Order: sequence, then structure tokens, then C-alpha cells
Amino acid sequence: MSARRTVLLTGASGVVGRSILRENGADGPRIISAVHSAPIPEAAESAVSLDLTAERFGLDADSHAALVASVDTVIHSAGLTEWGLPAERYGPINVEGTRRVIEFAEQAGAAVHFMGTAFVAALAEDAPVPLGEENVCKNYIRSKHRAEQLLRDSGLPHTVFRPTNLIGDSTTGWTSQGQIVQLMSDWLGRGRAPFVPVHPGIRMDFVPQDLLAKAVLRAIELGDEQGEFWVTYGEEAMDVETCLQLLVKHAAGRGRSLNLPPLVNPDELAPDAIAKTPPLTRSYLSVLRDVSEVTRCSGGVLPSSMAELRDRYALPHVDGTAAYLAGLEYAAEHLG
Ligand SMILES: NC(=O)c1ccc[n+]([C@@H]2O[C@H](COP(=O)([O-])OP(=O)(O)OC[C@H]3O[C@@H](n4cnc5c(N)ncnc54)[C@H](OP(=O)(O)O)[C@@H]3O)[C@@H](O)[C@H]2O)c1
Repeated sequence: MSARRTVLLTGASGVVGRSILRENGADGPRIISAVHSAPIPEAAESAVSLDLTAERFGLDADSHAALVASVDTVIHSAGLTEWGLPAERYGPINVEGTRRVIEFAEQAGAAVHFMGTAFVAALAEDAPVPLGEENVCKNYIRSKHRAEQLLRDSGLPHTVFRPTNLIGDSTTGWTSQGQIVQLMSDWLGRGRAPFVPVHPGIRMDFVPQDLLAKAVLRAIELGDEQGEFWVTYGEEAMDVETCLQLLVKHAAGRGRSLNLPPLVNPDELAPDAIAKTPPLTRSYLSVLRDVSEVTRCSGGVLPSSMAELRDRYALPHVDGTAAYLAGLEYAAEHLG
């Protein structure tokens, strides 16, 4: 594509949004950062205040029309990403917000690059086992699944990028905010888990955030306006034992000795094994069990487009274990 694109980036203050802004080079697209409630240090070029839950994004008619006239591409990264909330909390942002993005893109004649989630694999019709109704991620996943469906039904030119849990930058470990992987890893690495409830054989699939950002920007550069990409390591992802050994290595580097907790199949746990632990332990063990369940419902290994992404978008071959360690180091140094 020769003409410089003008991209509206929703969720610009989020982990993915800020990573995209950092990765965007001088010859990349002009990005208009959608500001919601948080400031965006990287949003030097252009910004607009925007609320996905309001008609016309809460803009007055003239500002909305000006935005429609200037944008030819949308990266839709805004969303409610916290897990464990009731379904009605996700609908207005993740589903209705996406409907508004679609309406906007239709008016602007813009393609949409949507940030989905790899966890939708757990909702596939051919999933080996259904996802439990009580799973902490279920309402979030359903809302992202519904948003994808809206895009497909719209007929708009669009791509869907489905990342697994993201970690920091592949070389520096940098992240604008601590992620669940870092929180849980820190907790596990301090020996706080009495046991680790994970289904046998599942992979720990974490992808550095800059890989996602690079792929999305390259898709825009190439003018790609269709495709579904699982931004995961899939079969390359580490197994649980490797992940725990890296935590031991990281702890040793910080002068701590970590005795590994036993791995326990959640299906074989006593019904109250998690419930009777103290509140923080209960919360972390429940998340570990439920994320493991999501992966199990996806066949134990998440689907992956990594080979295609490397080939098509020239993504660097990043060693997932080295990136995980870099993220642990960054978190220990900077995220307290
Ligand atoms: N991070 C991951 O590990 C990961 C993994 C898989 C998929 N994803 C997907 O990738 C996307 C980005 O994730 P993220 O980690 O960057 O999320 P995040 O850090 O939680 O950021 C969410 C973004 O959405 C914005 N937002 C929330 N409500 C809004 C509203 N009503 N109107 C406009 N903007 C609103 C937030 O703005 P304010 O902060 O200003 O309110 C923030 O910029 C999400 O759609 C998520 O589902 C992320």
C-alpha cells in the first residue's frame, strides 16, 4: 500500500494499544488514539475522546463526521478485559461497543482489525469438553465471541487477531501494566501456592505483546483486510513443568529458593480443596484452574497461526521461554 493510512485505535491506553503505539514507526500509519479514561503517554500524534458505550461514541455530530471523514482503518482493541464479572457488564462494551465500531467503519468505509481472544477456542462446537458454567473467563469469552460474530455478519472487510495471554516485550519484558500472567507468576514464584491445579498435558501459552503489535501493523501496511489469526505458540508453547522450572530459575536469580508445589488435576481435587484456602490463595487457585480448563476445552493446546504470522508478517522467531523470563525480570524490577 502506498498511501499513508489513518487508523483509529480504540483502547489506545490499554496494554495492547500502548504496545501498538510504541511499535509504530515513522513510516507506519497515522494513528488517532481513542482516549477513554486513562492518559496515553505514547499518543503524541493525534487523539480523540471516545466512549464505546455512547451513541456516536459520545462525540458531537461535527466531531463524529470529521472522524468518519479522516479514518480509513480501525484497530479495535478497547474492551472490558477483567474476568469474573456478570455477563451484563461485558455486553455494553465488548458487544454493543463493537456494534458501534462496525457502524462507524461502515460510514467511514474503513476496514477493522479486531483484537479478539484465543480463549474463544474453548467455545468451538467441536470442543472436546464444554466450558463449565462457573468458569471465571466464560462471560468475557462469550462477549468476545459475540463481537467476532457481529463482525462476520457485518460483511465489513476485517481481520480478527486472537491473542492468548500476553506478556511483556519479547526482549525487554516491558509492559505498560502488569498482566495476570505476571501477577500469578510472582505469586507462584514466591512459593505461595499449596498446589497447582492444572489439567494434565496442557500448555502454558504466553505471547510477548510486541509480536501482536508487529503483526497488526504489518497487516495494515500490506493492506490485508481479511483473515483470522491465532496469536499463540500452540504446540511450541511450554508445558507446565518447564514454566515452573523457569520460576525456580528466576527465584534463584533473586536469591530465593523455591520448592515446587505439586501439580494436581482439578478433576481429582476434593470439592472444597480450593474453597477452604485463604481468600487470595482461593482466588489465584481458582483462576489457575479455570484458565487450565479453558485450555483443556481447546484440546490442551491452543490453535496457532504463529507459522503463518512469521511467514506473512515477518514476525521474528521469539523463544517463548526467554520472553517469559524477560517478563518476570521486568515485573520484579518495575511492577513491585
Ligand atoms: N492483554 C491480554 O493479555 C489480552 C489477551 C487476549 C486478548 N486481549 C484483547 O485485546 C484487547 C486489548 O486488551 P488490553 O490488554 O489492552 O486491555 P486493557 O489493558 O484492559 O485496556 C482496555 C482498553 O479499553 C478501553 N476502554 C474500556 N472501556 C471503554 C469504553 N467504554 N470506551 C472506550 N474505551 C474503553 C480502556 O480505556 P481506559 O483505560 O482509558 O478506560 C483501555 O484503553 C481486548 O479487547 C482484549 O480482549 C488481550
